[in-house]
Amino acid sequence: MKKILTFSIIGILCLIIGMLYLLNDSKKVIEDDKIKIGLMVDSLVIERWQKDRDIFISKAKALGAEVILKNANEDSHLQVQQVKELIEAKVDVIVIIPYDREAIAPILRQAKREGIKIIAYDRLVEKGDVDLYMSFDNVKVGELMGEAILEKAPTGKYIIINGSPKDNNAYMFNKGYMSILQANIDAGQIDIIANVWADDWREVVAYDTVSTLIDSGEHIDAIIGANDDLAEGAIRALLERQLAGSVFVSGHDANLSACQRIVEGTQTITVYKPIKKLAQKAAEVAVDIANGKAIISDQSIYDGEFNVPFIMFQPTLVDASNMVSVIIDDGFHTMDEVYRNIPTKEWPKP
Ligand code: BGC
Repeated sequence: MKKILTFSIIGILCLIIGMLYLLNDSKKVIEDDKIKIGLMVDSLVIERWQKDRDIFISKAKALGAEVILKNANEDSHLQVQQVKELIEAKVDVIVIIPYDREAIAPILRQAKREGIKIIAYDRLVEKGDVDLYMSFDNVKVGELMGEAILEKAPTGKYIIINGSPKDNNAYMFNKGYMSILQANIDAGQIDIIANVWADDWREVVAYDTVSTLIDSGEHIDAIIGANDDLAEGAIRALLERQLAGSVFVSGHDANLSACQRIVEGTQTITVYKPIKKLAQKAAEVAVDIANGKAIISDQSIYDGEFNVPFIMFQPTLVDASNMVSVIIDDGFHTMDEVYRNIPTKEWPKP
């Protein structure tokens, strides 16, 4: 009798252990079934990319995907290495903000050969043959900057501070504003006294260029800064020389500090890009393509070798007059943040 009891207890224990094992195993299967997305940022130094990251990750997680985040810290070799790590981790999709538009292409093409889908997020990969490119109308961003500054200064001395030569967007912005300014340059109405490219989008390039020119006795009417960080560098140089507010300055990204400078009068305009729309859509599409759904895009873009599908979002020009209706109403920044340094009685009425 004792024996029978011992055997049945052992039997029950084996059954329980077996069930627990099966349960654990099926949990593993469920976990392995989770869609894995590698989100690769080139750096998080510039304000906007933190928003992109947060919105993308929260949307992807809400859709049931797992996100592995890689930050290349503006290091081309590191970003290549990180793609290799994601191949090893067997991710389904790589969503990448490329640091170097050319250097990253070979490893991405290898990842693609291994069955990983590639989305170029906001920056195109040259000859990358990516599955999808998602961004804004970046030529339009440049055009909006050019138009707004040209309206203020149809004649005069201009400084152009372009973005990083490693970033395809920098050329698109340049194409945009130069196309608008060209006729006045040809007519001799606009004199470009400096035209520089800022490695890694460093604002110090803008600061140094503007400082040197002013200190050499040059007069400046307008500065096209290709983003708000470059505008900030330029305005810092102007501020130190009591010239802020008397030179027209453009940027883009609608950084909080740029919006503040606009309402305070030291920066003329910025360009707003609806990052929330881009980041959420990217997360949705990443999950969709991992599930085998086809990519739906209404246009394509040539990457130097291939035509790649392109999902495009539209930018909006922002100055002091539409700050509330564009930036505040869209929830990009709050009223308190943007008008922080302005007496409350001077705030725009709701
Ligand atoms: C983006 C800008 C950003 C810049 C620097 C560009 O590719 O279009 O929004 O300011 O990179 O990070």
